[in-house]
Amino acid sequence: MERLQKVIAQAGVASRRKAEEFITAGRVKVNGKKVTELGVKVNPERDLVEVDGVPLDKEEPVYYLLYKPTGVISTSNDDKGRRTVTELIGSEQRVYPIGRLDYETSGLLLITNDGDFANLLMHPRHKIEKEYVAKVEGIPDRRELKRVEEGIMLEDGKTAPAKAKILSVDKKKQTAIVRLIMHEGRNRQVRRMFEALGHPVKKLKRERYSFLTLGNLQPSEFRPLKPIEVKQLKELAVTKPS
Ligand code: URA
Repeated sequence: MERLQKVIAQAGVASRRKAEEFITAGRVKVNGKKVTELGVKVNPERDLVEVDGVPLDKEEPVYYLLYKPTGVISTSNDDKGRRTVTELIGSEQRVYPIGRLDYETSGLLLITNDGDFANLLMHPRHKIEKEYVAKVEGIPDRRELKRVEEGIMLEDGKTAPAKAKILSVDKKKQTAIVRLIMHEGRNRQVRRMFEALGHPVKKLKRERYSFLTLGNLQPSEFRPLKPIEVKQLKELAVTKPS
């Protein structure tokens, strides 16, 4: 017997956390009866589980690397009708992004229908390294970059140490291009860190996620991950110390 939210996640419908939301929102039925409590266990072989009236079927897992353009939202659907990353992929499967990039941020985003894989990579314990390039207002000095490296106090706590390096400066326009390497992924974290330093972010792009880069992809383009890449990501997450 398995927990209901785990069975839903394994079927590729949503992450485990989302599946819990589906359950409490009354969108899930087991053998025709609505289940709204979280502790329920089911037999994935024998019990009929439905989400929004659609029976779970075991979908083939799919994994994509997307170059998210700006002006697209990192969810599967948007109540304001904005374009979503899953629309860009146009997959038959019910796919969703692993983590988020802001509407106005571009760059590398992984998309999958494998809930366990998504949970594994998103777990803070696994400290997956991400690399961003930010254009910021003003030119951060050495002391400010050191604050990024040591951690900055934000409203949701101090940030973990990150690496920051100035790549170029435009003295006339008073802007700088900064490379940032970090493993945390709090909501709008890069923007909030530089805002706190007095250097608001004007442009932000994620260039790397662990060993994966954008390569030759152009904005809005995507490619399937190679099986070896999926395997390496799983191993990386499993073997990282806590
Ligand atoms: N940090 C941000 O501020 N925005 C993103 O999209 C990603 C990281």
